[in-house]
Amino acid sequence: MMTFDNSDELYKIARSFPTAKLIIRIHTDDTKALCRLNLKFGASLLAVPNLLAKAKELGLNVIGVSFHVGSGCFDSSAFVDAIRRSRAVFDMGKEAGYEFSMLDIGGGFEDATFDATALTISGAINTYFPDRKETGLRIIAEPGRYFVSKAFSLATNVIARRTPTSAESEAEKQENPDAPSVRRMSIPPPKYVALTSC
Ligand SMILES: Cc1ncc(COP(=O)(O)O)c(C=O)c1O
Repeated sequence: MMTFDNSDELYKIARSFPTAKLIIRIHTDDTKALCRLNLKFGASLLAVPNLLAKAKELGLNVIGVSFHVGSGCFDSSAFVDAIRRSRAVFDMGKEAGYEFSMLDIGGGFEDATFDATALTISGAINTYFPDRKETGLRIIAEPGRYFVSKAFSLATNVIARRTPTSAESEAEKQENPDAPSVRRMSIPPPKYVALTSC
């Protein structure tokens, strides 16, 4: 099983692994995530009909839809919007002659907001895929950060530090009023080592 989001991939798959089960990866709004993955991956909904038509023409087996809302997604409405887009792509799949059976909701989950996000996702799935039990829809996720981010601490040598001048802080505040401010600390500079957990 593998994903695709452009026609070059389809030609490559048709040449090298024509019996693969394929998942079309769609573009989502990840503007509020810590790491934006959709700058690089995901087909826009406008491109999907042509991609599915090309897959059909090449005799490829597309079985579902995937997305990733960006890593470190604290805004669960991004999942709702992505599930809504997925629904539209399921319908496009039908138009193209496919009967999709898998929805992959990717990663992006955060420990702090996991329960609320799960509840929101569950509601969106009920809304957009109300017949999922009858159709035997398989739903999977790919949580990464959620499982492992607490497992590591980063130890690093601090070789220099600099407190911004008040003029620089002011300029930054005007440029981006939402940016966290850097507080001046009265503690003396560390000699050379700091231990940072992340
Ligand atoms: C395809 C895919 N799935 C899952 C993940 C894991 O995402 P996260 O750590 O945000 O849960 C990534 C992360 O880059 C990814 O690229």
